[in-house]
Amino acid sequence: MNGDRMPFTALCPRQPDALLALITMHRADPRPDKIDVGVGVYRDEEGLTPVMRAVKRAEARLLSDQQSKSYLGAEGDIRFAELLMELAFGEARRDTRCFGLQTPGGTGALRLGAQLLACAAPASRVWMSRPTWPNHAPIFAEAGLEALVHPYFDPESGGIAFEAMLDALRQSRQGDVILLHGCCHNPTGTQFTTEQWASLASLCIGRGLIPFVDIAYQGLGDGLDADGAGMRLLLEAVPTALVAYSCDKNFALYRDRVGALVVQAATKELGALARANALALARSLWSMPPDHGAAVVRTILDENELRISWSDELDDMRNRLNRMRADLAATHPALAPIASQRGLFSLLPIEAGAVAAMRESHGIYMPADGRINLAGLNETNLSRFVEGLLPHLKASPAVAQAGVAAITRNATTNAVRR
Ligand code: LMR
Repeated sequence: MNGDRMPFTALCPRQPDALLALITMHRADPRPDKIDVGVGVYRDEEGLTPVMRAVKRAEARLLSDQQSKSYLGAEGDIRFAELLMELAFGEARRDTRCFGLQTPGGTGALRLGAQLLACAAPASRVWMSRPTWPNHAPIFAEAGLEALVHPYFDPESGGIAFEAMLDALRQSRQGDVILLHGCCHNPTGTQFTTEQWASLASLCIGRGLIPFVDIAYQGLGDGLDADGAGMRLLLEAVPTALVAYSCDKNFALYRDRVGALVVQAATKELGALARANALALARSLWSMPPDHGAAVVRTILDENELRISWSDELDDMRNRLNRMRADLAATHPALAPIASQRGLFSLLPIEAGAVAAMRESHGIYMPADGRINLAGLNETNLSRFVEGLLPHLKASPAVAQAGVAAITRNATTNAVRR
């Protein structure tokens, strides 16, 4: 067969996903004191990612009580979606213009929503923050939607460059989509204030934009209720919106792939039309979502005792993350913003080349943009991490000067403690 005509000849070479490749690289490193602050999984003080207690109990119950594994349909577990919507939007938000479908993870929800938008309005473009989760752009591109970026992060303050973001969005057209992180922005750990959510709602209404909220860390920022408040405010204000919800992190069900797509349409009739189309698309994408993880979440949310056990453990996870944030931030003024950022991630203010250097010299693993997963730090490895990091910190002269003072102070306090 002529080489040109062989199947797959036209495909472009592709690199393995850089984030997932980190897992393999870290695993292959023989150094016993290596530090993994790469892929976004929660780790406890021992560096483990345990199955949550409530999940174990729900699984035991499913094992003994589940009567059948027959098909459920393209919508998946309907009660799961209802309970998840209640968790995300509150009891009050039972709106006939809204529907929720179970999806394989938050990624499945993003992809299904993107596909639905591409069918409904193929010319609409999707605005996303720079930076954002590296999988966002490919998901929308594969669905055939054009992606545009707006400024978002202010490295000087470690906060959101909100005015610059609004400025860029003045270029948006009616029907464009704006992708927003519901809480705990990945990779910067920043979050919109209530006032900023209100401004975003006005922007969407004024310019006819459709918000698509990606919420993957509810409960890991400031608490279950607080982490959903901005998104709820937005949904109350706008006629049309989409939400991709992930249970990967807050139920620690990563590999079970549990998520939901929620769509709010302008009218009940449009909601029904969107639902029928989303179901048809889901049928062609994955036919039906995998059941187990969603059945676990449904079992937990449906029973008070399990729900309390789950939310208590989630509180502990969040408190540990925020403690590590405070401890790391206290080591150098250039790291101070990390204390008020939220969720698993923050971006380190480091020089180019630092990521490779820290990997080589200290076995510290993080993606090339300098994002760290705070859950990879603990009381045992923090000082080693800081030792590897400090030579690479990018800091203004004033901050660098303050840094020397802070390090000296920390060293003295530690010496006194010892
Ligand atoms: C991450 O950003 O590390 C996680 O969301 C894992 C992933 O799928 O990329």
